Amino acid sequence: MALKRRQLLILGGLVLGGGLGGAAFSGILSRNSQAIAPTDPKTASTPSKPVKATATISRSQNPAPKGMFAPTRGDVRIVLISDLNSAYGSTDYIDQVKQAIALLPDWEPDLVLCGGDMVAGQDNSLKPSEIEAMWQGFDKHIAAPIRKAKLPFGFTIGNHDASGSSFGGKSNFENDRKAVIKYWNDPKHDPNLNFVDRGGFPFYYTFEQNDIFFLTWDASTSEIPSAQLKWVEKSLASEAAQKAKLRIAIGHLPLYAVSKGRATAGNYLDDADRLRGILEKYNVHTYVSGHHHAYYPAHKGKLEMLHAGVLGDGPRRLLSGDIAPSRTVTVIDIKLETSETIYTTYDMNTLKVVDPNTLPRYIDAPNGRITRRDIKI
Ligand SMILES: [Fe+2]
Repeated sequence: MALKRRQLLILGGLVLGGGLGGAAFSGILSRNSQAIAPTDPKTASTPSKPVKATATISRSQNPAPKGMFAPTRGDVRIVLISDLNSAYGSTDYIDQVKQAIALLPDWEPDLVLCGGDMVAGQDNSLKPSEIEAMWQGFDKHIAAPIRKAKLPFGFTIGNHDASGSSFGGKSNFENDRKAVIKYWNDPKHDPNLNFVDRGGFPFYYTFEQNDIFFLTWDASTSEIPSAQLKWVEKSLASEAAQKAKLRIAIGHLPLYAVSKGRATAGNYLDDADRLRGILEKYNVHTYVSGHHHAYYPAHKGKLEMLHAGVLGDGPRRLLSGDIAPSRTVTVIDIKLETSETIYTTYDMNTLKVVDPNTLPRYIDAPNGRITRRDIKI
């Protein structure tokens, strides 16, 4: 079923004026980021030396697009976007996506992160030439402006980019998988990351940015292959990961469902508690995901989970509460010494800041309860 293009329809009462103070409207939470001792160095992965310099952009204390709430920048600033696509086969993006991309440099981030679904594939009626045209559209509207601004771009592959689903050992979306490999391995499309291990790029890989270790896994389906999970453990146990000030993991599907219409098996990761246990074991601070098209900052056990909102088509309602669906971009300011992560999430229809207090205190996902990250339990 084709996704429907919607523009500027969602004007909820869920946002507050942009100038109304800082931390009160941002989420702030600190968690233990102490690195644990690496496992046997013989079995830990050997990181290659980072090869890229950090983007050389000017720094101000609270950079933000003109007229929008301007949070104080942390030691590291990330801007998170997710789920950019429109109808199947689309080579263009809705206005909110283009606007957000145009605004990115004004936040002066150290890194742009994307939770996946950058194009609108996963439709086997699309010809290889049409899939390639989608990625050309992505390059024109999304990647090229980000490269031009010299912003490193970390991303995870979504089900509409190149679903990893297979049957009888054969990929169900082989053309999508081939296209994503071709696009991302073209030197012209270099995402400007300090790769630690790009052996599985663009499906699973690690990189470092400003003393933060990032791990991307292939959560384009609900099952992460066991061989890949072994790689995840080895990567997180590595010296590069454990010496970093903070560890962040990113994948398209969340561990726990948060939105209506997505609370069915296949729309969140299988065996979430076990996967969460792996991330907790290696002191991953936050797992960032997309796919559910609804912003929800949460925690469970020792792990924080940042469910990125949608920027393209199809905002969804959360499973709990009654706030209107919205399109969002989240600015993450990180204080490295205290592991504070401060979120400022903008509604991209109104350009105002989302008040986290309007979000439900907890969500009962089919596979467990997750709690809003500022609520202690
Ligand atoms: Fe998705």
